Amino acid sequence: MNNLLIGLRDWVDARLPIMRAWDTHMGKYYAPKNFNFWYFFGVLSLLVLVNQLLTGIWLTMSYNPSQEGAFASVEYIMRDVDYGWILRYMHSTGASAFFLVVYLHMFRALLYGSYKKPRELIWIFGMLIFVILMAEAFVGYVLPWGQMSYWGAQVIISLFGALPVVGDPLVEWIRGDYSISDITLNRFFALHVIAVPLALVMLVVMHILALHETGSNNPDGIEIKEHKGPDGVPLDGVAFHPYHTSKDLVAIIVFLMVFSFVLFFAPEMGGYFLEYANFEPANIKATPEHIAPVWYFTPFYAILRAVPDKLWGFILFGLSVVLPVFLPWLDRARVKSIRYRGWIYKSALTLFVISFISLGWLGVQPAEGIYVLAARIFAVIYFAFFLLMPYYTTIDKTKPVPDRVV
Ligand code: HEM
Repeated sequence: MNNLLIGLRDWVDARLPIMRAWDTHMGKYYAPKNFNFWYFFGVLSLLVLVNQLLTGIWLTMSYNPSQEGAFASVEYIMRDVDYGWILRYMHSTGASAFFLVVYLHMFRALLYGSYKKPRELIWIFGMLIFVILMAEAFVGYVLPWGQMSYWGAQVIISLFGALPVVGDPLVEWIRGDYSISDITLNRFFALHVIAVPLALVMLVVMHILALHETGSNNPDGIEIKEHKGPDGVPLDGVAFHPYHTSKDLVAIIVFLMVFSFVLFFAPEMGGYFLEYANFEPANIKATPEHIAPVWYFTPFYAILRAVPDKLWGFILFGLSVVLPVFLPWLDRARVKSIRYRGWIYKSALTLFVISFISLGWLGVQPAEGIYVLAARIFAVIYFAFFLLMPYYTTIDKTKPVPDRVV
């Protein structure tokens, strides 16, 4: 049996270089030996991506993308389809898990300067993934055709109407109709199940190919390729398989335990993962009392609402999402890792995290009084983190970085 398998492998390998690919990306991919907790979130993002793709395929088998049938088909999945309820919750909880791990994954890059030269492209692909992931989550939330699906879409699509000249035709073009209708739902379905996931998967492949070209950064921000042994292997690197895969497996198990706990005991997470208003069918005649997006959009939503002018709100909202793309050029520090940076960057990053979380909280509060004032203050801190970065990373006193991982 063993010989047969080896024979088969060699037969394929003579026609398609599977062993070379394995060596390049696993067996002979030397990754820094000092990876820490923060380095688990890349592999966890991959895991959640696979979960979304698989559960999504099975949901599609019973979902009906029409104004008449959408809401009822989701109820049918929850009540009648075998294991439908768990598939749906794996997908809806999975969406929140996706953003959680991706936010932590991005935060790691801020901690260790992973976006800096030579990893700019990894970062750019990452940011494209992030923006596309937001689009995917937005169109996906419309599909159950609940109250929040409808009114959330109404608010977000009408934002484009603030643009001068092109605004109104653009809104109509997005909806495909004079109002949000069956046509809108159908095109969102097409985007959600095939166009956007395809783009997402292709970008993830590019992200990892770019990563494996430059090699991973690490918590010390040391380029391990600069110190190689006589065999050409980086002295501070270990083969990805089996050394990192075995550690990653532990992280995967722990993650699945936490994920299952949420799935079984708090799949809606008190209205944060699935909003209560979305358990009512869409009603074009009754606006919900508070329209708020799901938690992962709320920091940006708070920025949008903090600006009194509609057009400027839209511009700053867009800017808050895309500004991090420029980090590799905004950050002028000579060191990558926070371990060797001075107090200025450390304080700036702390303030940034506080403002991001606070904006997230403010995004679900009513847009009035003290909440709006607070959102304005935190929005200023959010933008200042990026826009003042070329200045404060230049004057920040850094420590010398060791040559080797210690
Ligand atoms: C579907 C989403 C994503 C997947 C599956 C994914 C996957 C991965 C994997 C497997 C790694 C290597 C392991 C690790 O360093 O943790 C990695 C590294 C990296 N990712 Fe992602 N990623 C995703 C999204 C993002 C996003 C949104 C960003 C930032 C905008 C990003 C930025 C980075 C950077 C800078 C690295 C290199 C980190 C280093 O070497 O220190 N990724 N990614």
